[in-house]
Amino acid sequence: MKSKLLILSVVFFVSCSVFNKQIKNNEEDYQVIPKPLKLTKEDGKFVIGANTKIIAVEELANEANFLKQLLLPIKLEVSKNSFEKDAIELKLDTAIENDEAYFLEINPKKITIRAKTSRGVFYGIQTLRQLLPPEIETQVTVSNLSVPAVAIYDEPRFKYRGMHLDVGRHFSPVAFIKKYIDLIAFHKMNTFHWHLTEDQGWRIEIKKYPKLTEVGAFRKETLVGHARNKGKRKFDGKPYGGFYTQEEVKEIVAYASSKHITVIPEIELPGHSLAAIASYPHLGNTGKQYEVGTRWGVFKEIYAPKEETFQFLEDVLTEVIALFPSKLIHIGGDEAPKKQWKESQYAQEIIKREGLKDEHELQSYFIKRIEKFLNSKGRNIIGWDEILEGGLAPNVAVMSWRGTKGGIAAAKQKHNVVMTPNHSCYFDHYQVTKEERANEPIAIGGKTTVKDVYDYEPMPKNLEPEFQKYILGAQANVWTEYITTSDKVEYMILPRMTALSEVVWSAKEQKSYPDFNKRLKTLSKRFDAMKLNYAKHSLK
Ligand code: ACM
Repeated sequence: MKSKLLILSVVFFVSCSVFNKQIKNNEEDYQVIPKPLKLTKEDGKFVIGANTKIIAVEELANEANFLKQLLLPIKLEVSKNSFEKDAIELKLDTAIENDEAYFLEINPKKITIRAKTSRGVFYGIQTLRQLLPPEIETQVTVSNLSVPAVAIYDEPRFKYRGMHLDVGRHFSPVAFIKKYIDLIAFHKMNTFHWHLTEDQGWRIEIKKYPKLTEVGAFRKETLVGHARNKGKRKFDGKPYGGFYTQEEVKEIVAYASSKHITVIPEIELPGHSLAAIASYPHLGNTGKQYEVGTRWGVFKEIYAPKEETFQFLEDVLTEVIALFPSKLIHIGGDEAPKKQWKESQYAQEIIKREGLKDEHELQSYFIKRIEKFLNSKGRNIIGWDEILEGGLAPNVAVMSWRGTKGGIAAAKQKHNVVMTPNHSCYFDHYQVTKEERANEPIAIGGKTTVKDVYDYEPMPKNLEPEFQKYILGAQANVWTEYITTSDKVEYMILPRMTALSEVVWSAKEQKSYPDFNKRLKTLSKRFDAMKLNYAKHSLK
């Protein structure tokens, strides 16, 4: 009896591997985030083993290598011979319309990823990754891996899918920036907005102005506790700082590019410029020697609207654009108090000379000059929504952070818009309710849960159809006053960026929080394998 059973089970297993097609897959096998546009479950599995080849044409060498690294535990060879059997084939297909779309077809004989561009192929690989067991993330050697058969067609809903990181308040080392880029790519997002200059630290080497990093990249100490506790402020007495050399910047931009991510640098002006003014006092309105900021909040020191300042900014931006191929360059524009310009005879003379109404129009004049310079170099500017206040520069794009009003107003003026409203897209906010905060690390305030992020709809409700095309997409912002380490950055972004990835990628009609939450639970096993520090309480 026993031997009969044994024979039966051997026959069963052999027929399963031969007629692998008969293996039934279920819903649990297809837990992908962001949810693909069209996914058809099929029977059977493809088994990736030591003899499986990766087939790729030369133009897809980068993607083939990415897949090979992902499957390192099996050590696959890359071949250009498209007749290989037992293969994962990466293919370009010019008939596909959308630049970011991909087809992923898995059957027991072959895996095929087809796209118009290498970017689409890359996204197809990211989906394949989520269909593989989470153990691949640990890079422990395995002899084979099975993937469920499927037919997927997928494309993103929005063109702009971004994550911002402030490295001014707290510095992130190069290794973490790369990890951050990996996470952006994992979520099929395509933009890294790198906030490089702040009151509390200038973080990018500029060869013509060495003091920006000799002086501006370091503060003598840092505020302890919350900035709200005015009057009884305490400082830690410890010098803090750091910056990226131009070589490191190049390395990061190239790394991001290999993951199909555009890096938008932000050089803040005219406000949030205390570290630059502390480095070169003639850039300020008072000529006084300042110190790099040591506390959080908005500072009254802003750039003087002088020719020397414009020369300085043009020199800085000349070096910046040589490092960043991004068409968009972020020039800040937010939180620039006008007090110093009101009190400056020089600023008032310019207002008169240029026939400007007030200091807001002076800010607009300031930004238009910077825009003209960058446009002459083939670049466009993007700025925070305050840049609407004195009138928008002609070709500028707007990042709407004080809610969505600024974004709506800019779209109606036919300007491109990226939505980053603080209520849904500020990942420096607490991710739990006030009552649940006791065990949370200190944060700036607010409450933006993973569900709040998931429920965010970037397309404003009543925006007329003719203006909808100006809403390019959305982004989360990660301000680091209270986010002191890389570990904490991970905790603040995960899994909120996972929710945002579905907001910006997946079809609106397919959104369902319970379904997302279920897939997130599966994905969290991969986060565990990747040893990521994510907010586990957000999964409940
Ligand atoms: C901002 O949060 N000040 C853009």
